[in-house]
Order: sequence, then C-alpha cells, then structure tokens
Amino acid sequence: SAPTATPNKRGSITKSVKKAAFYLNKGEVVAIPTETVYGLAASIYNENALKKIFEIKDRPYFNPLIVHIDSLQSLNKIAINVPEVAYRLADKFWPGPLTMIFEKNKSISTIITGGKNTIAVRMPNHPLALELIKTVDVPLAAPSANPFGSISPTSAKHVEKYFKNKLDVILDGGSCSKGIESTIIGFKNNEIVIYRLGSLSIEMLESVVGPVSVRKHTQKTPIAPGMLDKHYAPKTPMILCDNPIKTASNLIGKNIGLIVFDKKTLCTDYQIEVLSPSGDLEEAAKNLYAAMHKFDDKGFDLLIAQKFPEVGLGKAINDRLIRACKRDTNFTPNNIFI
Ligand code: TXA
Ligand code: MG
Repeated sequence: SAPTATPNKRGSITKSVKKAAFYLNKGEVVAIPTETVYGLAASIYNENALKKIFEIKDRPYFNPLIVHIDSLQSLNKIAINVPEVAYRLADKFWPGPLTMIFEKNKSISTIITGGKNTIAVRMPNHPLALELIKTVDVPLAAPSANPFGSISPTSAKHVEKYFKNKLDVILDGGSCSKGIESTIIGFKNNEIVIYRLGSLSIEMLESVVGPVSVRKHTQKTPIAPGMLDKHYAPKTPMILCDNPIKTASNLIGKNIGLIVFDKKTLCTDYQIEVLSPSGDLEEAAKNLYAAMHKFDDKGFDLLIAQKFPEVGLGKAINDRLIRACKRDTNFTPNNIFI
C-alpha cells in the first residue's frame, strides 16, 4: 500500500510546517527539506507561485520541475498512462530518491513541464516534506533550492546563503540523508531509461526491473537540463583526477583545497575534505555538496577532487564532479529536448 505522511508524535501539525503551509497557501515559494537536497516549493495549481520559482532561481523557463507527492492517489491526478512497472518501482522505492517521468494530465500547467506533455514525479522520503504536502493537500513542484547551475543545497544553511532575502520560509529539516539529487527515469517502449544518475543506484533499480540503459547525453540533445554539461558547479575552478595529492604537488604556489574519497588519501600539506573516512559511497554522497559549499567559501585558487570508483553511488558522484569541473555551457531552448 502507498506510504503516507507520518503525523508527528503529538498528532498535531508541526509548528514550522504550519508556517510553511500558510505561505504556500498564500501563493508564496518556500524552501523544503527532502532526503536528497533542499527544494524550492510551490503549489502545482498556483501559476504565479510557479513563476516565482523560476525568477528566484534564475532558471530558464524551458527547464521543467519535479512534482512531489505524498500518496499514490495523487499520482493519478497528475499523470496518465502510468505503466505497471512504475507501480512496482513506487512500491519498492517511494518514498525515496526516484523520479519517474509520465505523460501529464491535462490539468497540469505547462509552466511545470517546460512546455512538454510529460511530468516528472517523486515521493520524497522526509517527514517534514511529507507532512507539509499532506497539510496543504496539493502536490508541490520543487526544483533544487540553488541558483541555476550552482551547487545544490543539503542543509537549511546552504539555502539561506543563496536566498535569505528572497524567501519567507526555509523549513529546516536538518542535513539531507542522501545528499545527491534523485535518479530520474523514463519509460520507452517497455524499457527503462535513466535520464539523470542520482541517489538511487543503477544496481538498486536493476534489482527490481532487470537491465536498464543510461541515456548518453550529448551537448546537442540532453533530454533533461540536469544532464547538461556544466551544472552543480562551485565558483572556484575545479579539476578531477585519480591522484589529487600528486596533481596538487605539481601546482606550486597555488592555494588548493582537496576533496577525496577516504582516509587512504590523507596528506598534511593541504586542506582536505575526506568524504568518507571508511570508504563508504553512501556516506561520501551525503557529504559531497557540503564539502563543495565549504571549500567554495574559502577563496581557494583551485579545488581538486578525486575520481570515485565507477560502482554504485560512485557513478552519480563522478557525474556531479565531472559537471562541477566544467566552466561553460551551451544552453538554449533548442538544445534541451530531443
Ligand atoms: O532530488 C531531487 O530530484 C531534487 C529534490 C528537491 O526533489 N529536485 C531536483 O530538481 O533535483 P531539479 O529541478 O534541480 O532537477 C530536476 C530535473 C531537471 O534536470 C529537469 O530537466 C528534469 O528533472 N525534468 C523535470 N521534468 C522533466 C520532464 N518532463 N522530462 C525530462 N526531464 C525532466
Ligand atoms: Mg537542480
């Protein structure tokens, strides 16, 4: 059966959720926690509020939003022709970091879908997010709560850094337990295609549905802007390599910050962020963006990140690191969708 929001222990609405609901009902945008990253949320039925999301983020209007639901019943109000396998996946992974793309219901504004007739949907696994959706009783459209192209936020502090003056409410739900965006999939002739690698590993997906393919994106035909080359990027220049300490030692006179996987790569000559001392990929994913935020605020000349093993969440981590290293992008309405 569909998982639903758990009411808090007192059986009443959490005070901070009540406030967030009040502003959403007024047609405002509020920042919400999820298990992946923080989002900038608005009611899917308030076009003005939806437009505000794009303004606040400085996001191109043709880059569609993910809709967040708290029960499977809502899915049938926003999507049509949902394939059977999607229900199996929902049963297994919702609430959780899996976003699925369906044909949209007529009632869904094309502001949400970037003018397309498809809609991206997920059920987030965070008690405050679920409680909020239940309280306002409408699905919430929410992209990540960062200016377009920059590092995603995994704490309320990160959101504050970006948008303190632009938001009435930042609902603080602690640091995100997953730390990397949801995995986005679509369905094509009974096949499952991954459009964006994310917090649900390919291995986990395949354990339920068998082999899936990952859509290789080219600069000309990315299907989701999240797949565009430059994204998730710090302001500080960044490079990615197998041996950051060796690379750094060749760059004399530069003020360098290193982001490495585990405690095997330690060296007292540099400032280092170890993403998981014990070498655990889930822990590394959880800590990735926080390390990037921290180092980006320190005024280094250069950040050097270590390439991760291409297995499990290591693939999603590498995907984000590669994009964080890109310095420019070619981003127009014509090259977004095939
Ligand atoms: O974990 C997440 O997914 C977070 C949290 C807040 O839920 N949200 C998030 O949203 O990462 P955003 O907007 O940063 O990324 C959403 C991605 C974009 O790359 C967008 O292009 C893609 O989803 N997308 C949305 N609707 C789509 C559609 N109909 N077809 C293809 N891609 C779509
Ligand atoms: Mg984003």
